[in-house]
Amino acid sequence: MSKQTKFLLNESQMPKAWYNINADLPFAPEPVLHPQTLEPVTPDFLSVLFPMSLILQEISTEQYIEIPEPVQEVYKLWRPTPFFRAHRLEKALDTPARIYYKYEGVSPAGSHKPNTAVPQAFYNKEAGVKALTTETGAGQWGSALSMACNHFGLDLEVYMVKVSYQQKPYRRNLMQVYGADVYASPTDRTNYGRSVLAENPDSPGSLGIAISEAVEVAAMSGGAKKYSLGSVLNHVLMHQTVIGEEVLMQLEMADDYPDVVIACTGGGSNFGGFAFPFLRKNLQDGKQTKIVAAEPAASPSLTRGKYAFDYGDTARMAPVVKMHTLGHTFVPPTIHAGGLRYHGMSPIVSALVDHDLVEARSVKQLDTFKAAVTFARAEGIVPAPEPTHAIAVAIDEALKCKESGEEKTIIFNLCGHGHFDMAAYDAYFRGALEDFEYPEAEIEAAMKLLPVVG
Ligand SMILES: Cc1ncc(COP(=O)(O)O)c(C=O)c1O
Repeated sequence: MSKQTKFLLNESQMPKAWYNINADLPFAPEPVLHPQTLEPVTPDFLSVLFPMSLILQEISTEQYIEIPEPVQEVYKLWRPTPFFRAHRLEKALDTPARIYYKYEGVSPAGSHKPNTAVPQAFYNKEAGVKALTTETGAGQWGSALSMACNHFGLDLEVYMVKVSYQQKPYRRNLMQVYGADVYASPTDRTNYGRSVLAENPDSPGSLGIAISEAVEVAAMSGGAKKYSLGSVLNHVLMHQTVIGEEVLMQLEMADDYPDVVIACTGGGSNFGGFAFPFLRKNLQDGKQTKIVAAEPAASPSLTRGKYAFDYGDTARMAPVVKMHTLGHTFVPPTIHAGGLRYHGMSPIVSALVDHDLVEARSVKQLDTFKAAVTFARAEGIVPAPEPTHAIAVAIDEALKCKESGEEKTIIFNLCGHGHFDMAAYDAYFRGALEDFEYPEAEIEAAMKLLPVVG
């Protein structure tokens, strides 16, 4: 076994195609429904929000889709990303397990999000679109799309969940550096935002509300603006598969193969991008890798939500999909993993959990920060609050190996750095962070508001 720490690929080894797991799923996909009629949507409905090239990717069953040359050129600014053997973490945990992590925090925006922001900006530009709208929770997605729109000369309006807008002013500034306009959602710029503020002037906002605002602005723009989503949709997860495809090559360099693959899940994009190539190996080559999705106990869509049709946003303007959901009325507690506070989940990831092809686990906030500090003290990198969920599960698995003596190979996706999240670490060290488990009564109440699909 190699003693190497970093496994690095050349630019020429960067994947030339994205992997589309829709081609290999052992079950049929559920339909996407129109939010008013609850009938399957037509490409015409989706084309108000998205360019046709992305709609075709959304429904494609081709196994691989070529990455356009101009997208590859921008990817080269930070890809291929490094893959590390966590020798020091292994030592700190005194585990016989081998732990590796993929580091997506080397992107200019600091996370995996540019992997889809860049192609989404590219395809919109190609379709003649001049401006995009989007929402952002933690600000990671907003900064990624701001950077991508800047590269392709598109204007961008970002609706940032108000609590993150207040908690993370530097993320907002980063978006402004790239030229985007950023608004604290709920805003008074949209009908929906005004209605939320009328009911609760102090609303902290939610991803569901911010999505509604960004969708409304694009839908009302008469075609001038399109909408871009940073997670959940099939094409978004597909764009992220450059991560897992690189890891497969890097593991070959390490002469190793994982027993356990772990990533955090908000809407499912870094998880899908990291894990789907390994799922392909499970489905096609008989590999038996355990694949784990890690989510917050405060926003537990996969572990405690219902697998049902629900709206993608709070105002019920976005399409209805079958997914694990806490209900579109979900207003999450103000935990620091802002990117993991969505009420729903990618329909593909939800179906995979439902079919027991992926395991879901929830982690409490204090445990995630404890794991993050253990990791940072061993490996040096300060993780974003979202991947700390994956780190906590990886450490848990490594400690189980310590007990059993098993030499398992554990890999996880370190999908972003935490340099803009030091307020969260500050709260942790001051003892001001709390655990929060989402109340069952809230989930039950929200389930009564799900659309009734025949
Ligand atoms: C660093 C980071 N990780 C994870 C996520 C969760 O999104 P997803 O599940 O789509 O990867 C976000 C979302 O904003 C994020 O910023």
